[in-house]
Amino acid sequence: MLDDTIEVTVGDLVDEAIDIKRFVLHRTGNLDFPTWTPGAHIDVLFAEGLVRQYSLCGDPHRADIWEIAVLHTGESRGASHYLHTQINIGDRLSIRGPRNNFKFNLDSSLRFLAAGVGITPIISMIRAAHSADVKWRLDYISRSRKRMAFLEELESYSSNVVVHASDEGRVFKLKHYLIDTGGVYGAPLYACGPARLLDELTTMSETWPEDYLHIERFRPKSDASLPDRHSFTVNFALSGVTAQVNQRETILDVAEQSGILVVSSCREGTCGTCETDIIEGEADHRDSVLSAAEQAQQRTMMICCSRSKGSNLVLDL
Ligand code: FES
Repeated sequence: MLDDTIEVTVGDLVDEAIDIKRFVLHRTGNLDFPTWTPGAHIDVLFAEGLVRQYSLCGDPHRADIWEIAVLHTGESRGASHYLHTQINIGDRLSIRGPRNNFKFNLDSSLRFLAAGVGITPIISMIRAAHSADVKWRLDYISRSRKRMAFLEELESYSSNVVVHASDEGRVFKLKHYLIDTGGVYGAPLYACGPARLLDELTTMSETWPEDYLHIERFRPKSDASLPDRHSFTVNFALSGVTAQVNQRETILDVAEQSGILVVSSCREGTCGTCETDIIEGEADHRDSVLSAAEQAQQRTMMICCSRSKGSNLVLDL
């Protein structure tokens, strides 16, 4: 793993909603942050090699601060619990990034769908769409308005925002939503939220034109729907190494065991850091980063989770 770590200090902490805190980060040494674009995320590094991804939700034009909003998931030993209960103003964190797997294009008309903390990668897209005066609509889903981050700002954009708060009896139905917003003929759709919603959306949009559905996942796809693992041979062409990947190993494990330097982060197919070019063979894609069209092109793969369809794979490593 290459060391591109950035040290930051927490400059402010803001309660955005029930269980959601916004962290305002300053780079130590008064340095500017790298540039980023809407949809980008950063890695936050914790003890024992734990890494979590959080979307940047501030203003991309500001190089002096970065902002992330974190949902306290309730796991008492998880990263979000640590950030919510142990980190105060003035504390330091180590981060990496930014990286953008959820690239945003300012089309003339746009749809956004966010559930819960899934609003975090989308808020900066909405600000960009609003300033560019393009037509857009956000459907924002939660149990309650009190759990919706950035709601006051979003509601100032008036009728562009449709709130689905289940405690108000506005239960979200994906089928109705797609009909209501034009289905396949509607505008490009950017969505972030729980895996079940995104899986359902992916299935329902299978016949949509390429580049009409953009989704961001922070949790890997469930293994249940994936084919069984089998062992195969991988050739790391640049390094001149050929090795066997058994059922329990990943290509990334085998590369590291062979002394090959690979940049990695989440190791579960959600961050895009380990993306590697395929020279020969067909990948059995298991990541949540590449779109269906990109996976079908078989140009690159995430070697931390994706495998080989056949018995051999040649990679540009
Ligand atoms: S390390 Fe994150 S996708 Fe492979």
